[in-house]
Amino acid sequence: MNHTIDIRSDTVTGPTDEMRKAMAAAEVGDDVYGDDPTVNRLEALGAEMLGKEAAVFVPSGTFGNQLALFTWCPRGTEVILGEECHIVQHEAGAASVIAGVQTRPIHAPDGVLTAEALQQRLRKRDLHTPATSLICLENAHSLGRVVPLEAMDAVRAVADEWSVPVHLDGARIFNAAAALGIEASAIAKRVDSVMFCLSKGLCAPVGSLLAGPKAFVEEARMKRKIMGGGMRQAGILAAAGIIALTQQTGHLAEDHRRAKALAAGLAAIPGVEARPEEVDINMVFFTFPPARDPAAAARIMKVFANHQIIINSPDAGQFRFVTHYWIGDAEAETILRASREAFSL
Ligand SMILES: Cc1ncc(COP(=O)(O)O)c(C=O)c1O
Repeated sequence: MNHTIDIRSDTVTGPTDEMRKAMAAAEVGDDVYGDDPTVNRLEALGAEMLGKEAAVFVPSGTFGNQLALFTWCPRGTEVILGEECHIVQHEAGAASVIAGVQTRPIHAPDGVLTAEALQQRLRKRDLHTPATSLICLENAHSLGRVVPLEAMDAVRAVADEWSVPVHLDGARIFNAAAALGIEASAIAKRVDSVMFCLSKGLCAPVGSLLAGPKAFVEEARMKRKIMGGGMRQAGILAAAGIIALTQQTGHLAEDHRRAKALAAGLAAIPGVEARPEEVDINMVFFTFPPARDPAAAARIMKVFANHQIIINSPDAGQFRFVTHYWIGDAEAETILRASREAFSL
């Protein structure tokens, strides 16, 4: 083995050969005029697979989430969401800049927002309070967990009672679907809009889709232009996205199987605290307490680097390894071998 094994994230996945060929051969037009046949095909396919009326192609997951907020929420209103969700943690405070909304994060273990917590936080506009204009969920959650459908149903019921729409950050909705053994549409039907990524574990180099009711997507298309997301000959990118949806979704269960096996292997190393039973998708979170010491963390990173494995530096002794399309059984074995060496220090 002499190639680099990158397990920092599934965002590192490069395109497949089939994608590169499709991109080179893509039929394109000016998408701002609605003339790009490949983008149109991708949007129709994405909407159909998610069981939504329409979809719009956007440059990134962050763009799609923020476009959803910008489209659903009047300025000065409030969005309720889990405190560990991507929109709160990793989107650079964009909700306050683009949509001009206040985010109201609530405690949501493993991404589950309970009906009780929502009932306490939802509010109507009055002299002192902003109205709740949106509830956001994330599934699969970027902490590596799948939110059960019953938990989504409980949120839906409260949202309906209050007439508040629900947006799903479904960056990894196909991982959640594979983990639950259902179609992505069975998850998406519980929410009004859904953003999902074609990059991440599906290997497309760029792009996400925002799907929902036709009128919502038409408005989002206009707001996308405001955000500078009108992309002209974007069929080059959409061509890879079509393969992501038609070919790559079928591989995700393999990534999950390898992640679980990796977690089991890590759990068998003395001193490593890993819980294979909590691995729902392609992410393995585990702790090696000595790595709280920066010098020990640096030594561990070096062992992995010597095996040509790139990992993120640990956070307070906690590591995250992510499996993906380019991590096969041989790579998984190399990762375990390096782990045994690194965590014996
Ligand atoms: C759950 C979740 N939502 C949204 C995003 C944002 O996607 P992007 O990096 O394409 O902006 C990510 C990125 O990793 C994510 O994990």
